[in-house]
This record gives sequence, C-alpha cells and structure tokens, in this order.
Amino acid sequence: MRISVIGCGYLGAVHAACMAQLGHDVVGIDVDQRKIDALSVAKAPFYEPGLEALLEEVQATGRLSFTTDMSAAAGSTVHFICVGTPQKKGENGADMTYVDAAATALLEHLSPGDLVVGKSTVPVGTASRLSDLVQKQEPSAHLVWNPEFLREGHAVSDTLSPDRFVYGVADGSEDHRAVAVLDEVYSVPLSTGTPRLVTDHPTAELVKTAANSFLATKISFINAMAELCEAAGADVTRLADAIGMDDRIGRKFLNAGIGFGGGCLPKDIRAFMARAGELGADQALTFLREVDAINMRRRTRVVELTRELCGGTLLGKRITVLGAAFKPESDDVRDSPALSIAAQLQLQGAVVTVTDPKALGNASKRFPELQYEAETNRSVDNADALLLLTEWEEYRSLDPYELGGRVSSLRILDGRNVLDAEKWRAAGWTFRGLGRP
Ligand code: UDX
Repeated sequence: MRISVIGCGYLGAVHAACMAQLGHDVVGIDVDQRKIDALSVAKAPFYEPGLEALLEEVQATGRLSFTTDMSAAAGSTVHFICVGTPQKKGENGADMTYVDAAATALLEHLSPGDLVVGKSTVPVGTASRLSDLVQKQEPSAHLVWNPEFLREGHAVSDTLSPDRFVYGVADGSEDHRAVAVLDEVYSVPLSTGTPRLVTDHPTAELVKTAANSFLATKISFINAMAELCEAAGADVTRLADAIGMDDRIGRKFLNAGIGFGGGCLPKDIRAFMARAGELGADQALTFLREVDAINMRRRTRVVELTRELCGGTLLGKRITVLGAAFKPESDDVRDSPALSIAAQLQLQGAVVTVTDPKALGNASKRFPELQYEAETNRSVDNADALLLLTEWEEYRSLDPYELGGRVSSLRILDGRNVLDAEKWRAAGWTFRGLGRP
C-alpha cells in the first residue's frame, strides 16, 4: 500500500520506518527540514535503539522516502497523522496547533476513498471534528483514530509487534470499510495474533489517555507508598515485590523513585483533566491532580535528601547527576525529572555536573546553565555526592570500589532504586535510596 506519515518526530519517524518494513511504500512528511535531511540519509534525528539500522534497511529497498512537501501525500491510500500535541504554554490543555495544521494541509491532497488515520494523543472529540473536515473535502474518505502506545526506547519493537491495535471508526462497527483497509496495513502483526479492537471515535481517543493516566497513577501510587515507607522506616522495593506478586496488581510500573517524566505522561494527564473540565466531568479526574502532585513532590524530596546527604547544606557542594534523559535508552529530556532536580540543586547553590550517555546535547539546550561532562569517570571526579537519576545500564553496573577512588566523599543517592545498597555500603559509601531505610 502507499502510505504517507505526517510528522516525523519520536512517533512518526519510527512509524514510517516500520510501515516500510511491513512492506508498504511510505513517504514521511515533516515541516522541519533538518529532520527530513537527516532521515533522508538514514540518520535518526533522535536516539532510539534500532531505528537507524531499520532506516538503512528499508531505505535500501526504495520503499521509504522523506520530504517537507505535503503534496507528496497525494496518491497514498492511507495518511497517518503523527504530529505532537504538547502542553499549551501556561495552560494544562493540549496544544492542537500541529494536528490541526497537518490535517488542514493534507485535505487538498486527499483522493476518493482515502483513509486519514490519527495516531497522536488528542483530547476526546478531536476525531469527530477532523472527521467532519475530511468528509466535507472528500465525502468517500474516512477518518480513523488509531492511538499509538509505543514506549520510547522500545519504539521499533512496540510498533512492529504492539500489545493491541485500537481502531476508532465513525460508526464503531467492524463492518466499516476503514477496518478492512487498516487490517491490510497491519496484516503482518495481525497475522501473528496481535489483538485488534474496533470501537467509535471517542472511545479510541479515550483508550490512550486512560492508559497513560493509569500508568501515571500506578507510578504515583508506589511513590506515595515510598513516602509512607520513608516515614515508617520500611522498604518500598520489597513492598512493591510483595504486592506485585498479586496478579491483579502486577509488578510492572511499580518502581518507586524520582517519578515519571517525558513527553507523554505528564502532559497527557494534565490535558485529560483540562478536557474533562470542558466536558463538565472534572470531578471524575480530580485524583489525577494528586497523581501529578505526588510525582512533583519526589523531585523536591530528592533535593532535600541530597541536602541531608551533604551534611545540611548544598552551598558549594559538587554534585554529579548520573543521567539526564527522562528514562534510559532515550535522549529525550522533555520534563525529565533528573534534569529538573539538577536545576533545582544548582539554584540552591550546589555546583552540578550532569552526565548521560546520549542526552547531553538535548539537556544543554534546555538547561545551558548546568555543567555537562560526557565521560562518566571524569564527571564524578572530586564529587561531594553522586545522584543516580536515570537508570542507564552503565550506571547500574558502576563499581563502588573503583568510583570510590575518584570522588571526594563516598555519598550516593539512588533515585531509581536500582543499586545494591548492601554492596555500596560495604564499600564504605553513605547510601540513600528513595522509600528505603
Ligand atoms: C509512555 C507510555 O508507556 C506509552 O504507552 C505511551 O505511548 C507514551 O507514554 P514513555 O513516555 O516512552 O511511554 O515512557 P514510560 O516507559 O511509560 O516511562 C514514563 C516515565 O515513568 C519515565 O520517566 C520512567 O522513568 C517512569 N517510570 C516508569 C517510573 O518512575 N517507574 C516505573 O515503574 C515505570
């Protein structure tokens, strides 16, 4: 099939490459010339494991190209909208500028029978609004909402073999013509048993925001338990192991630490609350305000713990922050808790050095006032305290004895609860975890 993918960021670039890998002829379209230039020579404009190898592989087949020219969408049967919906400046709602601009620019290139498929995370009601636009332009074209659930760091495998497909079609019916077309697009993963649910537009939109809200709630729940564990002298990691053994609860997404960040969970729960307010259902989501508040408190808590760890003051203390990305295997620093903590420490008088295997370029653009060092060993030289804030494998496997010879004081705070406390203490370190004695 001929497919266009509009928006070539974290979602779209991966989606375009994966659709070509599934055997389709794909054109990726973006307004950002820099992204298109990079992708055209099989360079990923951001770090995502496996993406560059995939781009090279599919570009060699001639099935994938990239352009800034929207007219290249003409002739495709399916058009995926994969642009971002960031948080509005100064407001909780989602900024729909990019979705609206992409959809509007696409309209004049639609042909009879085309499918426009929304993948971006949007406020409920967007799909039916866009559907009207599409049908006004081209009465035999359809709009489907087909939310994307990929995780950064696992984006390629999540796209090629997702947990499930959700198709939101206008009448919510399995017999809708769009269902058969999308089934053809995803025939490879469907043939290996990936479940697929057909529903209506608003349900499909809500599936995505509900899933992200649930995940955010799960993380904040365990972080609330961490607060209690801190007050009671208990260990939240053992608590999570124990409650996670109940199938109904499950151990995944129960890692207490510095909380969630990134370009999705924080802004999605806020946009969801804002939309619920517009719909007159704000009470249903007031709990998400608490989820957000618990999450933000973790960052302040780490600053306080670091002050304690440094003997009561941060002034002039040399602190090394291990990790800048919002999660490992990503260079994304959008709403990164690690960087937010680093910046707060610096504001309170500490001298902060940040290191990260992939995210320093993005981090230094966002927080130019912090000091950055790419070499882990050099970054810890003469530090008064280390903070592990993004659990890259490289930091999980650090050797406390080797590191001990480089720092000025043996103090470490494990913001992700991934280090073996006993091992570090045995090597002479003052060790602090979150929600652990
Ligand atoms: C999320 C959803 O998982 C994905 O389905 C959706 O499509 C987009 O948003 P992503 O933002 O890539 O994906 O990251 P995710 O793996 O969900 O992690 C989000 C944040 O939560 C990270 O900062 C991570 O460190 C944190 N987290 C995750 C925890 O603090 N504890 C956990 O147990 C799990």
